[in-house]
Amino acid sequence: MSTIPAWWAGNGLRAEAAGLSFDGRSLRELAAEHGTPLYVYSLAKVRRRVDELRAAFASRGLPFRLYYAMKANRFRPVLATIRGCGDVGIDACSPREFALARETGFAADEISVTASMLSDRDLDFFAAEGAGLNLDSLSAIRRWGRRVPRGTAIGLRLDCAVDIGYGSHPKLAYGNTKFGFAHDAFDAAVEAAGAAGLVVDRLHVHCGWGIQRGALHKLEWVMEKLAGFARRLPDVRSVNLGGGLGARRRAVDDPVMAEEWAEAAARHLGPLGVTVACEPGTLLVDAAGVLVVEVNTVEEKSGTVWIGVDAGHNVNLYAAHYGLPVEIAHVDRPLAPVAGPVSVAGNINESNDIFARDLPLPAIEEGDLLALLPAGAYGSSMASDHCLRGPVREIAL
Ligand SMILES: Cc1ncc(COP(=O)(O)O)c(C=O)c1O
Repeated sequence: MSTIPAWWAGNGLRAEAAGLSFDGRSLRELAAEHGTPLYVYSLAKVRRRVDELRAAFASRGLPFRLYYAMKANRFRPVLATIRGCGDVGIDACSPREFALARETGFAADEISVTASMLSDRDLDFFAAEGAGLNLDSLSAIRRWGRRVPRGTAIGLRLDCAVDIGYGSHPKLAYGNTKFGFAHDAFDAAVEAAGAAGLVVDRLHVHCGWGIQRGALHKLEWVMEKLAGFARRLPDVRSVNLGGGLGARRRAVDDPVMAEEWAEAAARHLGPLGVTVACEPGTLLVDAAGVLVVEVNTVEEKSGTVWIGVDAGHNVNLYAAHYGLPVEIAHVDRPLAPVAGPVSVAGNINESNDIFARDLPLPAIEEGDLLALLPAGAYGSSMASDHCLRGPVREIAL
C-alpha cells in the first residue's frame, strides 16, 4: 500500500522508489545541502496557480483584479514571482507588509490594505504612503478622515455573517467576529465615512480559511448580500471577495477552487458592472510548499510510538494551533508499505506540539527525513523563535 495519497502527489511533487522529488529536485539532496527543517517552494507551481485564477476570471468576461495575500508567504522569491506576474497586486495587513511590498516593486496603488484594530501610528504611516484602505470600524473611519484629503476613497469591510471556514472550525470561520461591519451597521458606516469626508467606492469581505465546496451556497449568499449593499453605494467601483479558497489538507477535502469562485462571482456581481477583486493566499501558494524535517527519536511510550522531529509548532503551527491535519510522507521511502500508526511530535516544550497522532506511516528510523505538506501557506510566515528553535530555512526552486 502506498503512503502517498494520490491527492497531493503530482504537479511537480513526485513519489518514486528513489524518494520524493519536487520540480525534479530530490528532497533528500536539498536537505543535505541546506539542512533541516527546510521549507522548499516551487515557484513554477505558484505561477501555475496565478495563471489558473487569472484564466478563470478572464473567461467570465468580468472586470477583475487579483491581489496576493502576502501574509500567507512573504519569502522574497515568492513575492518576486508574484511581482513577475505583472498584473497581480498585493493584499497587505500591516505597515511592514506594505513596506515590504513596496520594496518588492509594487506601487502604492497596486497594494490593497485590509487591517484591523489600526493604531494612529499605523494610520499615519498609511497616510504618508498614500495607501488605499479597507476599513472595518467607525473609529478607524473617523481617524483616517482626519489624516487624508476630503474625497479620499475607502473600502468598507463587511462581516460575512456566516460560518463558512474549513468545516465551520471556530478558529477559521470569520462570521460575527472582530472583523468587518455587521450588516445592520452598514448604513452607520457609510454615514460615518461621509461625515469624515471619505467616499466609499468599494466593499470588502473575507469569509474565512479553507472554504469547501459543500459551503459554496453560503459563499454565494455572501456574494448576493454584497451585491445588495453595492447597489446602495452611488460611487461603488469594486467588490473584493477576500481569500479563503484552495485549502486541501486531506484526501477527502474538496475545496472551492478558482473556477467555481469566478463563476459564482460573475453570476452575482457581474450584473453590477463593478471590478471583482480577490486576495487569495492559500490558493496561490499552499500546494507550492513542502517542509522537510529530520527524525531524531523513535520510541514507544505507554503504547504510543513517538516519532520526534527537529521542528515544532514554532516552524509550522497548523496542527498545534488550528488542530488541522498535516500530511506526512517518508522522503526516502514514500512508496513503502505502512508499518503501523505513529505519533509525530516536535521539539518545542509545549504538550500540544504534535504534528499527527496515530498516523499510518512506513517504518521510520532515527536519521530519516519526513516531508510535511502542504506547507506553502502560513508556515514560515507564522513561524516564531519560541524556545530559540528558529529561524526557519527556506529555499525556492
Ligand atoms: C483579509 C484577508 N484577505 C485574504 C486572506 C487570505 O486568505 P486565504 O489564505 O485563505 O486565501 C486573509 C487570511 O487570513 C485575510 O484575513
